Amino acid sequence: MRLADPLGAVPSVVPTVGSKELVALLPTLLGLRGAGTVLIPEVAYPTYEVGAVLAGLAVRRTDTPPADAADVVLVWLNSPGNPHGRVLTDDELRAWVAWGRAHGVPVVSDECYATLGWDVEPRSLLHPEVAGEDHTGLLAVHSLSKQSTAAGYRAGLLSGDPALVRQVWEVRRHLGLLVPTPVQAAMAAALADDAHVDEQRERYRARRDRLAAAVRASGARIDHSEAGLYLWVTRDEDCWTTIDRLAGLGIVAAPGAFYGPAGARHVRMALTALDERIDAAVARLTG
Ligand SMILES: Cc1ncc(COP(=O)(O)O)c(C=O)c1O
Repeated sequence: MRLADPLGAVPSVVPTVGSKELVALLPTLLGLRGAGTVLIPEVAYPTYEVGAVLAGLAVRRTDTPPADAADVVLVWLNSPGNPHGRVLTDDELRAWVAWGRAHGVPVVSDECYATLGWDVEPRSLLHPEVAGEDHTGLLAVHSLSKQSTAAGYRAGLLSGDPALVRQVWEVRRHLGLLVPTPVQAAMAAALADDAHVDEQRERYRARRDRLAAAVRASGARIDHSEAGLYLWVTRDEDCWTTIDRLAGLGIVAAPGAFYGPAGARHVRMALTALDERIDAAVARLTG
């Protein structure tokens, strides 16, 4: 779709109403409606699938570039990942960049947990070590919801390939999908200040240390979780059995099956609860 551009100016970053609406609408905004398949991670935030279904597209789950690209129209990556906190290595990211370019398929990385690396430093798809100097075919999605604890502001960002950014921006403004000026001002202020991001990250780190120790002491295992706001926990049993066990202690977790069949033996425990609630969970797990 190409619409008239009376203003002549195209932003290199598109503010979005949080990142969730962008994730859900991206296939539609890119004009991919109709036929084709969207690749999403094996275990994934559900909105990638919602966006594909909304655009009449099929979904295929994979963590590695497939040999067969036949009808693939879009790739979603999520690093650090929700729910499992897995961070893609530079080599994995480069493999997706090469695959997307070889097949002419846009590769989009949802990086809303990018500032929350614990054991590793997450790298953006757009970093020169990954993409080189050329962002053709690549997009990155970011959000202030996690790094600034600002979910209520609905403040997200899209950047990358200028041609794709322009297309998304043109369609969005004709749909009225615009971020109010006060929220944009708040976003600019938040993005110019690293101190509050560091402070919040340390708060999450302290919760993570306490909760992770208690989870392990309770006999469960934590997989991945090297970044992000969750612990990906398993007792090597069906996730609903673990959910039941936790519910008996008054602890709410998310069943891994919500995120795809490969998550069926894990549960997701969030670090977003207040300190006092984390301490209560620690006491119940170890008491
Ligand atoms: C992977 C991922 N992407 C996007 C979002 C959407 O966040 P928001 O719309 O608040 O930016 C979330 C929220 O949990 C998420 O986990």
